[in-house]
Amino acid sequence: MTQKAIFDDEAKKWQSLYLDSSSERWGIFQGYVRKRTRARMDLCLSLLPPLKGKEIIELGCGPGYYGIRLIRGGAIWTGVDISRAMLTVCRENTRSNRLVLANVLALPFRPGSCDILLCIGVLSYLRKSEIAALFSRVSDILRKGGIFLVQTVRLDPLTWIRCRLPCRIPRPFRIPGPLYPRNPKTIAQLLQTNGFSIRRIIPYRKFIIYPAGTVYVAVKE
Ligand SMILES: C[S@@+](CC[C@H](N)C(=O)[O-])C[C@H]1O[C@@H](n2cnc3c(N)ncnc32)[C@H](O)[C@@H]1O
Repeated sequence: MTQKAIFDDEAKKWQSLYLDSSSERWGIFQGYVRKRTRARMDLCLSLLPPLKGKEIIELGCGPGYYGIRLIRGGAIWTGVDISRAMLTVCRENTRSNRLVLANVLALPFRPGSCDILLCIGVLSYLRKSEIAALFSRVSDILRKGGIFLVQTVRLDPLTWIRCRLPCRIPRPFRIPGPLYPRNPKTIAQLLQTNGFSIRRIIPYRKFIIYPAGTVYVAVKE
């Protein structure tokens, strides 16, 4: 099954991460997994400048829960995703028509056409050379002084295994592999070599001690 097909197949399930009321199951820690997903969203959104009138592009927008908040804050938000099923769910959630079916490696935007770009939960699916190409393109699309907010995930070995269990066994979700480990130093270096200065690097944890991921806030120079 291709990466895109897995995202298509699991679109409804991804959205259940944001909803307590959903009957979708996320394993024994599901309450915690949902709480953590929303806490990560709160963290990322708290790092953005005032949204009113800002043109924001979100890469890999998935079910659109960031989009809902950004539109509510007054931003002119555009969501991009490679999965048609994700965009269908996203359209229902955000009521937005500014949705683009595209691979982040072939973005159809003009140079200097946006103020803020978000890339949350996508980089693990890309090779280092693809990330370099993406950052260079993002640098082109952002206006000078624009913000690039990037988030990378770190998967612990237990979750990695659980995510690959057959459907009959409860598992959080199928991860579309391969997944590439993301070293914060590599991401920081790639940002700097592509015309960004780094404003913040924020590691965050799960179960208090285990590293879960990193958020980067970079400014287009
Ligand atoms: C882990 S989900 C994150 C969704 C959303 N950013 C969130 O945090 O709720 C990753 C999303 O990125 C999309 N995606 C993965 N690879 C992509 C690519 N190469 N181009 C565009 N979208 C991609 C998937 O379809 C999926 O919707």
